[in-house]
Amino acid sequence: MTLVLGIETSCDETAASVVEDGRLVRSNVVASQHDLHRKYHGVVPEIASRSHLERIWPVLAEATDTAGVTIAQVDALAVGNRPGLIGSLLVGVSAAQALAWSTTKPLIGIDHVQAHLYAASLLDQPNEAIIRYPAIGLVVSGGHTSLYTVTGPTTMQRLGKTIDDAVGEAYDKAAVILDAGYPGGPRLDKLAQRGTASVKLPRSLLGNDNLDFSFSGLKTALLYAVRGHPVRRGGQVTYPRSADELTDTQRADLAASFQIAAVDALILKLERVIKQQITSADPPQGLIIGGGVCANSLLRRRAVELGRAHELVVHLPPLPYCLDNAAMIAGLAHHFFQHNRFDDLHLPAIATGTQPATSNLN
Ligand code: KG4
Ligand code: ZN
Repeated sequence: MTLVLGIETSCDETAASVVEDGRLVRSNVVASQHDLHRKYHGVVPEIASRSHLERIWPVLAEATDTAGVTIAQVDALAVGNRPGLIGSLLVGVSAAQALAWSTTKPLIGIDHVQAHLYAASLLDQPNEAIIRYPAIGLVVSGGHTSLYTVTGPTTMQRLGKTIDDAVGEAYDKAAVILDAGYPGGPRLDKLAQRGTASVKLPRSLLGNDNLDFSFSGLKTALLYAVRGHPVRRGGQVTYPRSADELTDTQRADLAASFQIAAVDALILKLERVIKQQITSADPPQGLIIGGGVCANSLLRRRAVELGRAHELVVHLPPLPYCLDNAAMIAGLAHHFFQHNRFDDLHLPAIATGTQPATSNLN
């Protein structure tokens, strides 16, 4: 049996987890900072890193206690070291380095985006379904919207990515436009469920064969639908209306219209890649989705329908593993551990998306 202790601090969740043999989650502790960032309508990097610093050791202690192990009993330490907010990443990476140095356990740096795709492999109980490869993978988070061919837990090739906003970012901005509350994505999702998609908003498909995504046009179209077209006078831009003038029904209908357009854009690209690959020599067996937006009610429903229509097994992480967590970090690290792929104590924190278009163990 292998036990990995994982740490995740890339954005505004301080998280630690113990995972057994890469799949069975023995503990999953997440300290969210939503209350600290709510009044700013977004994550403030300086506040995030200071809060990680205060929470990291209690969160780690809770993760080992809940799992019923000591740090001396784990086989390796894993940390999400890229990409993310640099000040936030540094807290988790420094903690992992300190633990690895003091215990002489191996240290494994993990790519956060790759870990999101792994989250669907995590189990709360042993013996649940195992992912069959090759699969089509989609990561939908606050920072990424990327499509992959996935051939194993650590091997994938990127087929497309967003050319502007990530879909989670578009959700967060749409929630600000509609004054839907914070955190934006889940609030907008909830509001949308009360509305009717009566307002026509665009789905950017970027040409017939293109597998990239674009969400900035949708966001702007929503802004104009809510506030009217902007008027420029001199250097000043003003809008004819404000979100305060919307009735509750209008607000819910606009949320539903945004939600259906955003999810349609994701599903249409998935459909496109399935059609491209289904006749290949090694066609996809499954569809894996990961990242915070995978908690979305409509996306989950439409993904299951899509899988059924194309005879693909659909792997959606349970809700706690869609959002940022350390179980996905510890689980994925198991596969690097098995191949003796360790990092040294100089493991860097890397802020920007360094994930290569192809990621392979060999
Ligand atoms: O994966 P994640 O926790 O952090 C990043 O790696 O970015 O994703 C956070 C994103 C946020 O943009 C949040 O608004 C969005 O996921 N999100 C949702 C829902 N729950 C979280 N978006 C739409 N519907 C949801 N139910
Ligand atoms: Zn994430």
